[in-house]
Amino acid sequence: MVKLAVPAETAPGERRVAIVPDVARRLIGAGWTVAVERSAGAQASFTDEQYADAGAEVAPDAAACTEGATVVVRVQAPSAADAGLVPHGAASLSFLQPAASVDALRVLADRGCSAFSFDLLPRISRAQSMDALSSQATVSGYRAALTAATHLGRFFPMLMTAAGTVPPAKVLVMGVGVAGLQAIATCRRLGAMVRAYDVRAAAKEEAESLGATFVDLGVRAEGAGGYARELSPEELAAQQQALADEVAKADVVVTTAAVPGRRAPVLVTRAMVDAMAPGSVLVDMAADSGGNCECTEAGREIDVSGTMVVGMANPPSGMPTHASSLYSRNVANVLGLFASDGEFKPDWDDEIVAGTGVLRDGRPSQPQVVELLGGTA
Ligand code: NAI
Repeated sequence: MVKLAVPAETAPGERRVAIVPDVARRLIGAGWTVAVERSAGAQASFTDEQYADAGAEVAPDAAACTEGATVVVRVQAPSAADAGLVPHGAASLSFLQPAASVDALRVLADRGCSAFSFDLLPRISRAQSMDALSSQATVSGYRAALTAATHLGRFFPMLMTAAGTVPPAKVLVMGVGVAGLQAIATCRRLGAMVRAYDVRAAAKEEAESLGATFVDLGVRAEGAGGYARELSPEELAAQQQALADEVAKADVVVTTAAVPGRRAPVLVTRAMVDAMAPGSVLVDMAADSGGNCECTEAGREIDVSGTMVVGMANPPSGMPTHASSLYSRNVANVLGLFASDGEFKPDWDDEIVAGTGVLRDGRPSQPQVVELLGGTA
């Protein structure tokens, strides 16, 4: 028998839950026992009664929830204290960001646990249904577009009214990954004119397919795994200069540019924000990793020379119901690789298992984790 534990999230401000009742029901049908900590789904609008109806055990606290678990699943990385509740030899599955979770990794390693991180999921076709980075980025991009529309003192669509014609808002999306594409799509649905910019060549066709005009500066920075590489300081300075005009013309700028494992690149300087028209809005979706705008403060909305700069902190948590539903489907699909016939036996030769796995029975299974924990594989 395999037991899945779903403790309540402990990270401040986190409203998502790792498994929603419908997915709990599906997993129970597939042979899992599911225990959910009391009120774990409350902030995402899932009640304990719904979990109980789905056949899950509702445990009074995190310790009771995780007792005897085969896999403990969370959204956010466990703290060291959370990690201490993962039973000896069990597995932990969550976003982990190994470099930011060294204390928890040490605890898990000491307990002989395995740990899997969604941040490291290979971006391959077979893994799409498990890709929590993408599902959560979709929520973030949508939220960023709506946040911009809410803060702008102008309409997004062109309107022809008896009181005169209103021109459409001009939006610039910087960073056309999963979140940027969803921001483009949402701004287009609201009727804005959208321009988009990225350093990956593939982004042009994708942005155009959603009705955006691509801003091509000729800078190309494809990196490993389909991601962008970090620009050199010279490339970054040239990029900022070339984008200054684009930013000044926009009513709304949405930034989503990220480089895995690194601070987000600064694409928008303070001078560029100063040059925007009063009443403009900049929504920075990269606020949690340092921000794409020099003025960004994570979790705050600040006025910079008449432009509202919104530093979105943990955007998917702001729409916790659907963010949790999508995340828990990703989790269920990963669990399909971990267990069969009621037995936990992940296939470490599988590219997805090996790619997401950072600890295997307490031992680091990736060079970067060996280095982080200062030991041997
Ligand atoms: P991300 O969150 O790592 O970065 C967001 C965007 O910022 C990227 O498009 C990146 O090129 C861009 N960026 C980085 N530095 C920049 C700079 N200095 N200036 C302008 N833009 C900059 O990206 P995300 O959304 O995680 O996607 C990463 C890649 O993975 C993409 O190529 C995407 O198409 C691919 N992907 C593949 C999947 C699959 O086949 N299973 C699923 C999802 C994504």
